[in-house]
Amino acid sequence: MTVERVLFTQEQIAERIREIAAEIDAKYQGRELKLIAVLKGSVFFLTGLAQAVQTPVKIDFLAISQFGSAQPGMVRIAKDLDEPIHGEDVLLVEDIVDTGFTTSFLLRTLAERGPRSIAVCAMLDRSVRRIAQVPVEFRCFEIPDRFVVGFGLDHKQLYRNLPYIAVMNPGP
Ligand code: IMP
Ligand code: MG
Repeated sequence: MTVERVLFTQEQIAERIREIAAEIDAKYQGRELKLIAVLKGSVFFLTGLAQAVQTPVKIDFLAISQFGSAQPGMVRIAKDLDEPIHGEDVLLVEDIVDTGFTTSFLLRTLAERGPRSIAVCAMLDRSVRRIAQVPVEFRCFEIPDRFVVGFGLDHKQLYRNLPYIAVMNPGP
């Protein structure tokens, strides 16, 4: 696998984060927000987003693990949040919503904890591959059906630190 071409530059990502942050501020005016990021892919997007919003935010993290490709969509929490979310406005910050299995599991799990509200903010949305329907209220970019890396997204744990988002070439 090699990096084939840049899909979104660092500047384009920063610009979209500013625009999304303004939408978030408009929605949550006068309230506090709990940003929940899924380790590790969402961390780069989370830090940019948290710095771009004016709304006061708290931050928490969770990590998930997949049960393997035999059971697609089977997900469990490997590291839970540090704090409860009861009564809070929660924004689930995702690197990418692909099939939607991960996000739909997290939304269900978090909703059981009685937040005041819960919404999804995704850096990337590959809706052509969606199987589990999830409401993505805020998104930076819709992307085609190609594997991407960078800005948090990995291939075998590499490339997360690329400051841009690139398409991977599936070649040898
Ligand atoms: P979903 O459950 O199919 O929506 O998958 C979401 C997760 O799959 C993301 O959080 C990523 O970790 C991973 N993923 C999906 N597509 C890509 C990609 O193009 N590059 C890197 N990771 C991806
Ligand atoms: Mg991931």
